[in-house]
Amino acid sequence: MKILEANGAKIPALGLGTWQMRGDQCADIVKTALGTGYRHIDTAVMYENEDAVGQGMKASSLSRDDIFLTTKVWPTDVTEDNFIKTVAGSLERLGTDYVDLLLIHWPPKVKAVADWAKLLNEAAERGWARNIGVSNFTVALLNEMVAASERPIACNQVENHPYLDQRKIRAACAEHGVALMAYCPLYQGRPLMNNPVLMDIAAACGKTEAQVVLRWHVQHVGAGAIPKTATPSRLAENLDIFDFELSDDQMASITELTSKHSRICDFEFSPKWDAA
Ligand SMILES: NC(=O)c1ccc[n+]([C@@H]2O[C@H](COP(=O)([O-])OP(=O)(O)OC[C@H]3O[C@@H](n4cnc5c(N)ncnc54)[C@H](OP(=O)(O)O)[C@@H]3O)[C@@H](O)[C@H]2O)c1
Repeated sequence: MKILEANGAKIPALGLGTWQMRGDQCADIVKTALGTGYRHIDTAVMYENEDAVGQGMKASSLSRDDIFLTTKVWPTDVTEDNFIKTVAGSLERLGTDYVDLLLIHWPPKVKAVADWAKLLNEAAERGWARNIGVSNFTVALLNEMVAASERPIACNQVENHPYLDQRKIRAACAEHGVALMAYCPLYQGRPLMNNPVLMDIAAACGKTEAQVVLRWHVQHVGAGAIPKTATPSRLAENLDIFDFELSDDQMASITELTSKHSRICDFEFSPKWDAA
């Protein structure tokens, strides 16, 4: 497993996404993932599955310190009144007294970067977050956050896959030593998988298209990915990407696909994205 060293954080480059899984299904997948070798689990208050993630962790044979756990606070709770309460609720549901990474899920509507930084830092100060970071932050917002935060920003979790050109935010993350963690790394399993470029590379490498895409993610410096699967057999498939390497040409042909620039998670509350 590749470990990303990002401003003091040591983040397993390949983690398990848990969005849209809840209850027993989620708890079982988390337990099975940890048994399969996953050491990084991604959740959020908004996923309404922190309790299930906690149950899955507890049911595994691992100790808490063996697991890198991320959760995220929804932007409307990034306020003086709600933030600390919200993180306390997350810890209770997760059945732990700290998370390894605490993220602001999306930039809040009213821009107050110094206040956002202060709240994250307070959670870290209380020992509730070993590392702090952001998600869905553009280059300008990331620059401001890095400047405003007393503790280093370890991660920016952003949509990233072979159909989205993220060169600008990748460069900004690299400049600040911030890990770029890809969400929707498999384009949510949409037709990406039938792409002839990926099919050819997969055949040449003796791997599946999903493995090729995940390898492309983690082969970038400072980058990781958190694919979600509810299919137990895919857990091992998605993790089995550290025994082969894509050539420079193969990396470049996958990167060329990003010119499609198609974004899945784009909402009325999204920030004004960096142009491609
Ligand atoms: N920060 C944010 O704003 C944000 C936004 C979106 C997501 N996220 C995080 O990122 C995680 C991943 O993103 P995502 O769940 O949206 O999309 P994703 O991981 O790109 O795709 C998940 C889809 O791909 C399928 N899949 C998984 N492994 C596969 C394989 N080996 N071959 C073929 N299909 C495969 C899954 O199907 P099955 O489940 O049926 O196997 C599922 O339908 C989320 O779970 C969440 O933790 C964060």
